Amino acid sequence: MRKKIVAGNWKMNTTCPEGVELAKAVAAKSVEVPANVGLIVAPPATNLYCVAEAIKGSKVELSAQNCADHTSGAYTGEISAAMISSVGCQWTILGHSERRQYYGETDEKLVVKTKLALEAGLGVILCVGENLDEREAGKHFDVCTEQIKNVLYNFTAEDMKKIVIAYEPVWAIGTGKTATAEQAEEIHACIRKVIAEKFGQTVADDTTILYGGSCKPSNAKELFAQSDIDGGLIGGAALKADDFIQIALSF
Ligand code: 13P
Repeated sequence: MRKKIVAGNWKMNTTCPEGVELAKAVAAKSVEVPANVGLIVAPPATNLYCVAEAIKGSKVELSAQNCADHTSGAYTGEISAAMISSVGCQWTILGHSERRQYYGETDEKLVVKTKLALEAGLGVILCVGENLDEREAGKHFDVCTEQIKNVLYNFTAEDMKKIVIAYEPVWAIGTGKTATAEQAEEIHACIRKVIAEKFGQTVADDTTILYGGSCKPSNAKELFAQSDIDGGLIGGAALKADDFIQIALSF
């Protein structure tokens, strides 16, 4: 049975003390969350080390929001997968639409980053999703299918055990506009089919696929009730421990 996960992407929010406070609150409330639901927080890189301390002993796992496409060397400002792992992370998010949009993240780079992250022992939360123009042109299935194929078809069924997919329609991120449960479900089902075509039905059935984009306590239940939606990648609502935990209680 695939794992249910609720992950909080804090984006560029929280100073170190704020991050520790939020992480401690999440860790304290995490006891309410059933054992079959995984909890992950993804603070900014500067907070990874202190948040690792703050969640120690709880079920909450730690993720970075990105990693470098090189292992080490003269790449000023970059942080390698091994460095991320060394501060206590089990995960990194890769391919978030904000990185694709503002920082030139391409599928080609994501293949390299995914490989390096897996080699460093990290799990990967790979984000895919269409923008508003693509949705309005009816290209959403094609865009997500291409993004999945371009990156994940370079990996093995064994690698897929460490990979979670997050479907995040760009038009729903931070806009308050959520995809309807039906809109999200049909893309999730499509992604699972694309995974099955390459890796077989068992791998597809075992792959966790999260929804992200204005997911909040008021809509999480309906989204998570869909058969192919296995949890959420949460932005804004992850910055309040109560809301984040409420979402994790929505299965
Ligand atoms: P919001 O929940 O703020 O829309 O952000 C979603 C997201 O981008 C998570 O990675």
